[in-house]
Amino acid sequence: MLSSKKILIGICGSIAAYKSAELIRLFIKSGAEVKVVMTQSAVEFITPLTIATLSKNPVNKDFVKNDAGEWTNHVELGLWADAFIIAPASANSIAKFANGICDNLLSAVYLSAKCPVYFAPAMDLDMWKHPSTQKNIGKLVAYGNTLIKPTHGELASGLIGEGRMAEPEDIFDFLQIQLNAEKPLLNKNILVTAGPTYEAIDPVRFIGNHSSGKMGFALAEELADQGAHVTLISGPTHLLTNHKNISIKRVTSAGEMFEQCVRYFPSVDIAIMSAAVADYTPVEVATQKIKKTENEFSLSLTKTKDILAELGKLKKPEQLLVGFALETTNEIENATGKLKKKNLDFIVLNSLNDKGAGFQGDTNKITILDKNGKTETFELKTKQEVAQDIVNKIVSTLHA
Ligand code: CTP
Repeated sequence: MLSSKKILIGICGSIAAYKSAELIRLFIKSGAEVKVVMTQSAVEFITPLTIATLSKNPVNKDFVKNDAGEWTNHVELGLWADAFIIAPASANSIAKFANGICDNLLSAVYLSAKCPVYFAPAMDLDMWKHPSTQKNIGKLVAYGNTLIKPTHGELASGLIGEGRMAEPEDIFDFLQIQLNAEKPLLNKNILVTAGPTYEAIDPVRFIGNHSSGKMGFALAEELADQGAHVTLISGPTHLLTNHKNISIKRVTSAGEMFEQCVRYFPSVDIAIMSAAVADYTPVEVATQKIKKTENEFSLSLTKTKDILAELGKLKKPEQLLVGFALETTNEIENATGKLKKKNLDFIVLNSLNDKGAGFQGDTNKITILDKNGKTETFELKTKQEVAQDIVNKIVSTLHA
């Protein structure tokens, strides 16, 4: 049952729009409250009258509701919902969502939604297979939305292949499990660091590294999906998150990251340090741009404070502390050394010798070593899947 759950359904222009009627009926029957947003082309396929009657609510399709100039508050709709399900999701709307195009009510609601978003594509097989569609789908998944895969079968064109929207019963069953699932990290406060740090040399130059922040952001999203309240302290990265359970603090240097971590650590249950923090910073930052007058130039550097080691000292017995180790030689030995020295519960080891692991890419290959001497090595996976493995380890450590 889904009583008291608030479900927002988005309908795009597609023959499969007739299936949305059944999907709405299933949600209403299970006790959920349903509101619907339709695109202009969805209205060509199924009438707002049918949808409004089944959902027991007026349909939202325009920014301006009536001649009196009343407007549909897209932000409120996005905040109201516990889950937003776009079914059918057309290739056109998927492309808009993936690229931030906001030219109708549905795309505006999508961009402002804070709840989990699910999308069930419906399109012809060649549209589905097209690299641009697949790229857009990949972007939506990377933004933390959940894909409900289309199935193989007869399509509106008469062709047979992949592209049929999942059946309403299957979408409903999947959502029912998702919405009723017990969240293992419900109301846990978790601190996560992500990305590189930049250490200024002068007003235009810095020392940095190639960390993209993808692993830390994927972790924050996965922890938040499991019910945690996440404080994400991120070094410079272009990545964004819209998750309502994530509060992001942006910092630049190792010193700023240290200050924020020490400030938030006493009030969290768990801290995971996945940032690639600079180990050294210039002793002095030039106030003016350094001119190339000398043939040789050397920079005096001093060690930054080790954030993880400091948190290891401050750690209370009930707190869980997780570190990362990026190694190129003697991987297990070095990671075990850091685990002990920094007083960690477990450490996630990446080896740059493993193809597809480490910075920048969308995949990672990890080994987890815990303080009880247990070692687990995982296959090469997407960073989202790696985040799930790390979260599973956190949950099992909490219950050990
Ligand atoms: N770390 C940190 N503060 C630093 C340096 C590292 O909090 N000033 C954290 C990283 O976020 C990571 C762990 O320490 O979780 C290990 O980082 P890594 O760079 O692998 O190791 P270091 O301890 O810096 O040692 P080395 O660079 O000599 O391998």
